[in-house]
Amino acid sequence: MFKIVISRSNPMVHTQFKLQVKLMRTLADHHTANACLFPVCALHHVAVTTVEGIGNTKSRLHPAQERIAKSHGSQCGFCTPGIVMSMYTLLRNKPEPKMEDIEDAFQGNLCRCTGYRPILEGYRTFAKVSGSLAWHRHGQHVYRDSWLDVGSEYLNSLLQTQSNKQQKQLCFKGERVMWIQPTTLKELVALKSQYPNAKLVVGNTEVGIEMRLKNMLYPVIIAPAWISEMNAVQHTETGVTFGAACTLSSVEEVLRKVVAELPPYKAEVFQAVLEQLRWFAGPQIRNVAVSSFTHIIGKRTITMDEKFFTGYRKTIVKPEEILLSVEIPYSKKGEYFSAFKQASRREDDIAIVTCGMRVLFQDGTNRVEEIKLSYGGMAPTTVLALKTCKELTGRDWNEKLLQDACRLLAGEMDLSPSAPGGMVDFRRTLTLSFFFKFYLTVLQKLSKNYNGTVSAAREVLQSCFTKIPFQSCVLLQEVPRGQAVEDMVGRPLMHVSAAKQACGEAVYCDDIPHYENELYLTLVTSTKAHAKILSVDASEAQSVPGFVCFVSAKDVPGSNITGIANDETVFAEDVVTCVGHIIGAVLADTQEHSRRAAKVVKIKYEELKPIVTIQEAIEKQSFLKSIKRINKGDVKKGFEESDHILEGEMYLGGQEHFYLETHCTLAVPKGEDGEMELFVSTQNPMKTQEFAANALGVPSNRIVVRVKRMGGGFGGKETRNTILTTAVAVAAFKTGRPVRCMLDRDEDMLISGGRHPFLGRYKVGFMKNGKVKSLEVSYYGNGGNSVDLSYGVMDRALLHLDNSYNIPNVSSVGIVCKTNLPSNTAFRGFGGPQGMMIAECWMSDLARKCGLPPEEVRKLNLYHEGDLTHFNQKLEGFTLRRCWDECLSSSSYHVFWSCLAGALVHVYTDGSVLLTHGGTEMGQGLHTKMIQVASRSLGIPTSNIYISETSTNTVPNTSPTAASVSADINGMAVHNACQTILKRLEPIKQSNPKGSWEDWIKAAYENCVSLSATGFYRIPDLGYDFEKNEGKPFCYFSYGVACSEVEIDCLTGDHKNIRTDIVMDVGTSLNPAIDIGQIEGAFVQGLGLFTMEELRYSPEGNLYTRGPGMYKIPAFGDIPTEFYVSLLRDCPNSKAVYSSKAVGEPPLFLSASVFYAIKDAIYSARKDSGLTEPFRLDSPATPERIRNACVDIFTKMVTPSGLGNGFENLHKLLTIRPSARARHSL
Ligand SMILES: Cc1cc2nc3c(=O)[nH]c(=O)nc-3n(C[C@H](O)[C@H](O)[C@H](O)COP(=O)(O)OP(=O)(O)OC[C@H]3O[C@@H](n4cnc5c(N)ncnc54)[C@H](O)[C@@H]3O)c2cc1C
Ligand code: FES
Repeated sequence: MFKIVISRSNPMVHTQFKLQVKLMRTLADHHTANACLFPVCALHHVAVTTVEGIGNTKSRLHPAQERIAKSHGSQCGFCTPGIVMSMYTLLRNKPEPKMEDIEDAFQGNLCRCTGYRPILEGYRTFAKVSGSLAWHRHGQHVYRDSWLDVGSEYLNSLLQTQSNKQQKQLCFKGERVMWIQPTTLKELVALKSQYPNAKLVVGNTEVGIEMRLKNMLYPVIIAPAWISEMNAVQHTETGVTFGAACTLSSVEEVLRKVVAELPPYKAEVFQAVLEQLRWFAGPQIRNVAVSSFTHIIGKRTITMDEKFFTGYRKTIVKPEEILLSVEIPYSKKGEYFSAFKQASRREDDIAIVTCGMRVLFQDGTNRVEEIKLSYGGMAPTTVLALKTCKELTGRDWNEKLLQDACRLLAGEMDLSPSAPGGMVDFRRTLTLSFFFKFYLTVLQKLSKNYNGTVSAAREVLQSCFTKIPFQSCVLLQEVPRGQAVEDMVGRPLMHVSAAKQACGEAVYCDDIPHYENELYLTLVTSTKAHAKILSVDASEAQSVPGFVCFVSAKDVPGSNITGIANDETVFAEDVVTCVGHIIGAVLADTQEHSRRAAKVVKIKYEELKPIVTIQEAIEKQSFLKSIKRINKGDVKKGFEESDHILEGEMYLGGQEHFYLETHCTLAVPKGEDGEMELFVSTQNPMKTQEFAANALGVPSNRIVVRVKRMGGGFGGKETRNTILTTAVAVAAFKTGRPVRCMLDRDEDMLISGGRHPFLGRYKVGFMKNGKVKSLEVSYYGNGGNSVDLSYGVMDRALLHLDNSYNIPNVSSVGIVCKTNLPSNTAFRGFGGPQGMMIAECWMSDLARKCGLPPEEVRKLNLYHEGDLTHFNQKLEGFTLRRCWDECLSSSSYHVFWSCLAGALVHVYTDGSVLLTHGGTEMGQGLHTKMIQVASRSLGIPTSNIYISETSTNTVPNTSPTAASVSADINGMAVHNACQTILKRLEPIKQSNPKGSWEDWIKAAYENCVSLSATGFYRIPDLGYDFEKNEGKPFCYFSYGVACSEVEIDCLTGDHKNIRTDIVMDVGTSLNPAIDIGQIEGAFVQGLGLFTMEELRYSPEGNLYTRGPGMYKIPAFGDIPTEFYVSLLRDCPNSKAVYSSKAVGEPPLFLSASVFYAIKDAIYSARKDSGLTEPFRLDSPATPERIRNACVDIFTKMVTPSGLGNGFENLHKLLTIRPSARARHSL
């Protein structure tokens, strides 16, 4: 039975990750669910607990909130409430969880900032076998205190009252949808005959997505979840029958119990279902969603066989029929069942190919009586390999059967080269690999009765994906002996907003309360990549309730031209140059109405040929005009002197920022002289102000931009927020009313661009010992449809093309391609990772060519102290070799130029300090560090200092918070402002040396001394001339080293990150906990870039991967099982505030060590096929790329060129290597 109370006003506006509700079905059950998918109607009578309901900063934090905050597991905080609720729910259901339970509980949670390690470490303290005693009191877990069950009494009594009430059929009517919740089967049947086309909805995880994202509308929805027969579980003679409203979690729970009781032979299918359920979505989905196996409908029982699926997402279940229950059968003696799934990400991802395989042997023999092989992902429906099964029936389970089965499957599981979903060779290879795994699995089970090749079987079964408990260690720096206890610089001070974030109290842009008269804006964007706009017709939108107006280029009061290089428009007028190009916007009274109205705005286009890829741009010479070069030495001579020359190419895909808080703006016109206040999630208040003023045709002094905090930025909010902010500002100007817009995830991914994809072409000359002599390299970046920051990104890539290697002769060119994609922009690393990745590519290949260990060749080529880089800057304070020695691998990073920063310090008469500086807080802990700096500068406790927000009317004309230098420059500006105050206080302090800070401030006020000061800082002597190859592009260099170990599954292309060690030079850390958080977060984001995240476009420039369903960022289970991070000690940096160093971007590239470890593992797998030459592996190293590169008999069987070769070698099948391991240092 569902019983609910909801304690948050408007859960539907929050993203899946921000707010998770906890449902209580019975007094004992607690389940997490996604607020954005769970229909409010279905919450009737259900108790809901939100993060605000379990603890708060005013009274007491719940331990699940406190521990994530104290363990530095909350950076931007946007994911934190969801993670807290997952932990809280686990504790409610299982007060003494195992570490494995904790890891499983987070399967559906994502975090883009922390790298997950601190969250797991913080919550490890709840685990039954805890590594730490810090959280225990008197031998008891602290969480066992009664206040863990916060609200329990209230909930229990409420649920009791509700459960005593007679349930009635409920009906909710909205503007367009009617929701009916029957309570009996009879009512359900009657409703279904009254509304034969009504949609039945249980978890809404399928229908919800269809309605939200696929523009589908179901006018009548019937929710059968309360009907007791539909929730019943029956144990029958033949199996277990689940009512059709039983959630997947309840199925899992029942099956677990049944498996524990049944003899193993009877539970074959149950075991396989359990294993697959683990990888089915996350707990939040499984807690509400139902499934389908074998169906019993009304009086009709149907079996899920080859006739069950009739077409794409269609089954023989008729629309007017109701699914009542599902039976999962027991397996028989001599029957074996396995299921396999391969996805882009192991956790919470839809399968690329999936299969269920069942074989029944004749009694007491190894002769096949019946075999069924079914595959998903190979056709619009699940398909059975009927021909293969027929041929295998009656055969003995031996190597000959394996060979024949593979030969037959290769023919039967065919795909046309243009099959939807692509990855044709990979998918076909998987069908064979899965059968191979099944064959060996069954062989192992049979081996109890028959002597077979058991050793090979065992090897496959113990593949790399057995779960090993997560382990980690961080090594912080210590503060010098004698440092005063109240001096917080260098200490791991908790992020100042962490507690608020963990309680859901932290205010993000869209949390600002609604203004009276406020309007909501929805963008109308192009569906064509390149086209002339023939007409825009918003007339139908007018009939949508709440519609106010349509805004377009003609409503722009100032200039419609905008962008960093003035090559963009606020609203497209005649031509669109990418899918997602903003053409106009609809304003309505609510978000729902404006979305509906925007969908019916009709645009006619005349299509023009788009350019989508770098290759197309090269063919058509479609380049942005600034082409940069860096040349050093004599490249021709270098090649002549080389023993070997290697040429190659590498492609690196782009990356979506996937900050958890999407772009958001609230514009509030002030009604006088064009004044407007803009609340924005931006890293760049200055440009936001400038662009809005320009579009509104008012001076900048009329526009105030305010930023409290961001739910992540990563470069994506350095300039691209302005495309939304400016449109919202124009709309607010036109209507004179406050206007708000927060993009949906799919809109955000579609319009705002990401990391530049790169193509690198190189020619490298080197000696037999691996010493590099000469390098010629061309970098092509996909800039998209405007310049934005592309030139800067390319400059950075060229300046990083050496990574850490001394290359005597260099000729390089960087070209930005102009294409019909949304403008690509800044992303953590800003071109650096692309530049260095290509360097590592040729370095890794030349080591192979020389037949030498890659780490030896890398070390040979590393710079030394005092060397000149290819851009002629001398290396001083070169700690890389120290890092190398500590970690056995290497990487370097240059901290780029940036310009200026400001700060404003107000001291109030009670001694409290309000600090403002030019940087914005996006989770990176900048405000925390600035408070530490001010605290030391003024000599007062951090508790006296507060930062409220960043705004253009307090600190004007600031650099964007980017390029890793914000702590450096803002820290110096803060220090500067504090010094001014201290200087003014000096006479007062001298006259009362024993006085307190409060005494001095009071005296200063009484003596009319100003207690407000500004600070300013610019990095001296920076600048570089590409033409002359001279100057100083960087203030100083950052160094870091990583060593990673991976295991790849050669059969499926999966990989597992076994261990990573990082040593990073951060100078003398301002806050070691925050710095470690930046290192881990950047590393895991890089892991996504280099191994997982893939943006896919159609040839027409349409982005396919528009949300978390299609675009996978690393999840909890993707981080290295062993993760060790340490900060290099005793390495003060004289060039930044309090000897610190930048840390935001440099560690991202260290994750390339994982990519090259994968490449090394593939090398060793390829050796088995006699392939030893360097091969091309583009980034990211997805399962498809890994599997295709592990060339073996299967891959040869499915590629037209390798056909004969594969089939000829079928007799060698059992020599196929199931997995390979490698370590790589970088
Ligand atoms: C984040 C996320 C991850 C996911 N991961 C996976 C995954 O790994 N694997 C996977 O297969 N799917 C996945 N899905 C898809 C979805 O969760 C599943 O398909 C799930 O089984 C749907 O169950 P539901 O109760 O939520 O369906 P609903 O949305 O409530 O209904 C789905 C369909 O079933 C019909 N229906 C429901 N009950 C009945 C009935 N009694 N009689 C007749 N018709 C009925 C509905 O009318 C509707 O057409 C995922 C979805 C999300 C949002
Ligand atoms: S802290 Fe997790 S997304 Fe920012």
